[in-house]
Amino acid sequence: MKLFIDTANVEEIREIGMWGVLAGVTTNPSLIAKEGRDFETVIKEITEIVDGPISAEVMGETAEQMVKEGKELSKLHKNIVIKIPMNAEGLKAVKALKQKGIKTNVTLIFSANQALLAARAGASFVSPFVGRMDDIGNIGMDLIRDIANIFELHGIETEIISASIRHTAHVMESALAGAHIATIPYKVFNQMLNHPLTDKGIERFKADWNNR
Ligand code: E4P
Repeated sequence: MKLFIDTANVEEIREIGMWGVLAGVTTNPSLIAKEGRDFETVIKEITEIVDGPISAEVMGETAEQMVKEGKELSKLHKNIVIKIPMNAEGLKAVKALKQKGIKTNVTLIFSANQALLAARAGASFVSPFVGRMDDIGNIGMDLIRDIANIFELHGIETEIISASIRHTAHVMESALAGAHIATIPYKVFNQMLNHPLTDKGIERFKADWNNR
């Protein structure tokens, strides 16, 4: 399973990028708004840090508007993936963008049927939201497992991005459930890194070395 970061904060991307683990980036309108900066400037800066798929979301409501925005965004860099919301207009836009050779990531996926539709429309990626499923009392990870099984059974090449990751168990469980990618918030990357026994071990090695 590849690791993406789910943020629009370039400092966070730079830091995790230096760990050598980052294969891509996802953003969304809420994450961009949180930074209070110009959308295209942020996306361009991200392309300079990470060499991998970078999802930028369209805000149009009709397929025509989404395609227009998608075409503009895709001109920013070859790695830009157009993030499209899961609905009928979104599917039409996915089909049209695919015909133009532009990759898409269909977002806000909450059922295996939605993932199947997005994949058949030609999406390069689908983003099922694990945490938001958990929030409403469902088991988000079951969704990842179902989509992974369906894609495997039917030879579908669309990649599954496990999204809305809230804690470290989500990352490990996504890998076990068959997600191709997990898009992880900065805070969770740091939680993955740390373990109290590692810190304790480093301290003990240091103490023993100094007492030799
Ligand atoms: C995915 O691409 C989304 O940006 C993200 O994972 C949403 O996560 P949230 O439910 O924590 O907002």
